[in-house]
Amino acid sequence: MKKISILDKDFELFIPYEKIRAVIEDMAEKMNQTLEGKNPLFLCILNGSFMFAAEVFKRISLLDAEISFVKLASYEGTSTTGTVKELIGLNEDLSGRTVIVLEDIVDTGITIDKVIDQLQAMNPADLQIATLLLKPDALKKDVKLDYVGLEIPNEFIVGYGLDYDGRGRNLIDIYKVVE
Ligand code: IMP
Ligand code: MG
Repeated sequence: MKKISILDKDFELFIPYEKIRAVIEDMAEKMNQTLEGKNPLFLCILNGSFMFAAEVFKRISLLDAEISFVKLASYEGTSTTGTVKELIGLNEDLSGRTVIVLEDIVDTGITIDKVIDQLQAMNPADLQIATLLLKPDALKKDVKLDYVGLEIPNEFIVGYGLDYDGRGRNLIDIYKVVE
C-alpha cells in the first residue's frame, strides 16, 4: 500500500486515479445527455475543485457549454451568523440559465448549502449540483445533489485538488489519513 507523509500526518492510497477517471467519465456522459440542447454554465468552486472541473469539462461534448470559476471567501459574521462564506468572482448573469456547480467534496453539506442559497438568489432557470465525493455519514444538511461521483467514509482525504493545510492538491490519486 502506497504511503505518504504531509506535514504531521501519514496518508495511504485510497482512490487511484484510474477509478476517479472512470467515475468522472460516467458523470460527464450523464451530463451530456441531460444537458443536450442547452447552453449550460458550469461553475467550478475554487480551490479544491480545479482538477475535477477540468476533468469533467473536457468530456462535455456540447459546443454551447461555458465554464466559470468562483471562490468562497470566509469571514467572521455576527454571533448569530457565525462564519460567513460568500461567493466571489462571479461575473456572469445567471438569470434564466442552466447552472451546474462543480464541487470537490460534500462533507457536512454546510458549504454547498450556502453556495446553493447564494446562487438561487440569482434566479437561474435550473441549478444542478455535481460533487466528486460525498461523505454521507457526515452530512448534516438536506441538500439536493444531482451528480455524486463516489460516496466515501467519514475520513480525512487529500489529493486530486483536495488539500491538507494547502498541501497535497497536486497528488493525482486520493489518499486517506492513517490514524
Ligand atoms: P462541508 O461544508 O463540511 O461540506 O465541507 C466542504 C469543504 O470542506 C470542501 O469544499 C473541502 O474544501 C473541505 N473538506 C471536507 N472534507 C475534506 C477532506 O476530507 N479533505 C480535504 N478537504 C475537505
Ligand atoms: Mg471545496
